[in-house]
Amino acid sequence: MLRIDLVAHRDAIVIGSGVAGLTTALSLGRATVITKGTLGWSGSTPWSQGGIAASLGRDDSPALHAGDTVAVSGGIGEQAVAALLTGRAASRIQWLQDLGAEFDRAADGSLALGREAGHSRFRIVHAGGDATGAEVARALTVATRAHRDIEVVEHAYAVDLIRRDDRVAGVLVIQASGVTAYLAPAVVIATGGIGRVYARTTNSPEVTGDGLAMAARAGATLADLEFVQFHPTALAATLDPMPLLTEALRGAGAILVDGLGRRFMRDVHPAAELAPRDIVARAVFAHVVGGQPVYLDARQAVGAAFPDRFPTVFEAAMKAGIDPRTQLLPVSPAAHYHMGGIAVDEVGQTSLPGLWAAGEAASSGVHGANRLASNSLLEGLVFGATVADAIVAARIAVTGDHFTVADHADGLSTDPEPDIEQQIRETMWANVGVVRDATGLERAIADVDALAPRAAGHLVARNMLDVARLVAESALARTESRGAHYRADYPDADAEQAHRSFIEPVAAPAVAFDAARVAGVGVR
Ligand code: FAD
Ligand code: SIN
Repeated sequence: MLRIDLVAHRDAIVIGSGVAGLTTALSLGRATVITKGTLGWSGSTPWSQGGIAASLGRDDSPALHAGDTVAVSGGIGEQAVAALLTGRAASRIQWLQDLGAEFDRAADGSLALGREAGHSRFRIVHAGGDATGAEVARALTVATRAHRDIEVVEHAYAVDLIRRDDRVAGVLVIQASGVTAYLAPAVVIATGGIGRVYARTTNSPEVTGDGLAMAARAGATLADLEFVQFHPTALAATLDPMPLLTEALRGAGAILVDGLGRRFMRDVHPAAELAPRDIVARAVFAHVVGGQPVYLDARQAVGAAFPDRFPTVFEAAMKAGIDPRTQLLPVSPAAHYHMGGIAVDEVGQTSLPGLWAAGEAASSGVHGANRLASNSLLEGLVFGATVADAIVAARIAVTGDHFTVADHADGLSTDPEPDIEQQIRETMWANVGVVRDATGLERAIADVDALAPRAAGHLVARNMLDVARLVAESALARTESRGAHYRADYPDADAEQAHRSFIEPVAAPAVAFDAARVAGVGVR
């Protein structure tokens, strides 16, 4: 029988405490945030570097920003969603400032605007040079902690969605104190991306695709899973996660050189180092996979100003024994962001009533096959608020005591299983990485299937395995190259496949429970 120690009734549950989760909770005004980390310091948000894209310059407009967003999307970005995203950027930056976020300023006192790849204008708002995410997380965390109607449950693992008939009605959560069935009429998945299923990634250890895996087990429609963005410039220095060398460095004039000191990006794309991210990542990968080193050279462009202008990168490089003022930075592509995720409409509603998704865990189609730099923090800020509005407008209630949850939610361990996790990560990097082909993709599927019996019973390993399989299958099904998805055996785009991809997973077998029979009940 399924072990449940406590049933807790709540108005709305937000899973995840990154920019998307906290924006949703603050916009709802009354919510419970479940996070497996510490508030403010888990997921990708606090490590974000370059900034937040917003068309604040006199020569800029939301329409230009939306145009750039769609231009890098491999032909399948949703124009209407891009217009929503970019049209609300300025007001979301103001909202963050009203919460207390401090952004870097130009000499005239206006917000300083940087430039990154694929942007036709200077429009990247940043903080602390390259510490934007830390400031965003700080401001959101202070506001959340101060809010008396937002409950925060830290170090708590969301395991699986609870259902009542055809609705999502809560989430099963494991904490040190026991297993709780949190019941609510609205559940928001804001668990971030999937970077940790790759051996090379910029993502922190929490980013294991849990929300995607649990949505799949509940039978929610998923979209665009094959589109994984690889950042071209992670510091290749044996650290895990790999420290990011922000694109803003290239925006500031840093160049990419090969082992002979040649600047090769000019031969690849007219925008050279500021070409769309997928193009730069593939060009760097082509060298690295052939055993040739690639370096980011910021000595001239940044030089002595490094500690002031890019303190986060400076500290990471010095920790790795490299002084970027005088030395070249060795780089490799690394899994960085997932364009795919839980399919949502323009207000964040998933295919399952009662379930919403926001941030990197969601796939609204705004990024298509390739995300424009610095559009992701913005996505959390904009769509987190939109989801909250939609939930408030829906005015739903769940009654009754009979619920179901995926049957393998019982007896799970939240301890890491390093050996299995590393094997998943290695096969994903080798076979479902920057360059793919059918043989490798089939090998990855066989590898993760072979690991399945050992992953059973381990929450994180099992989620990683489910995610790895779904991504590999989606990549196998797209027999063309588009955006971040590059198939060596199908190197061209195919006009007939110029559309998003959707998967409708079969819900996992479920086990029923009667909430009225659980001894402990908490109402808030
Ligand atoms: P996250 O911030 O990843 O938060 C996910 C949350 O979910 C975490 O709190 C985690 O603990 C929680 N969680 C996960 N699983 C569970 C579970 N089972 N139970 C409970 N809680 C769970 N984007 C930009 O726009 N600009 C940038 O400059 C930028 N720089 C970046 C630099 C780095 C190094 C990285 C890794 C990413 C960067 N990105 C940037 C991307 C951006 O940071 C992310 O896409 C964005 O922060 C995702 O926000 P999120 O709220 O969706 O998820
Ligand atoms: C970076 O600073 O290069 C990351 C920006 C992003 O991922 O949007």
